[in-house]
Amino acid sequence: MGWTKVSDANSLKNGDLVSFNYDDSNRKLLITRINGKLYATDGICTHAYAELSNGFLNEEDKTVTCPLHLSSFDLQSGVPRNAPAEIPLKTYQVKEEADGVYVLLE
Ligand code: FES
Repeated sequence: MGWTKVSDANSLKNGDLVSFNYDDSNRKLLITRINGKLYATDGICTHAYAELSNGFLNEEDKTVTCPLHLSSFDLQSGVPRNAPAEIPLKTYQVKEEADGVYVLLE
């Protein structure tokens, strides 16, 4: 699929947790921005079905916490920091261009 636009320019603010549907399916990404840096991971928890865009962002630790059973995931690596989740989130390359934010999808 290549680089795919997930957000308009300037619409993704620091501290936002944004869900993006892609591939005309139920697959979702989570896009976040912390101190200007962008992160993109799968948007559904690897433990059970919960949308991480409804979770809690920790800007200092650069983690998102699942709203259902409270596993926290490192936004850079996708690795869970605590149970019950054990499987890492897939992470994606993300970049910002003049017209928006793009994620590299396979
Ligand atoms: S669904 Fe996310 S930790 Fe259980």
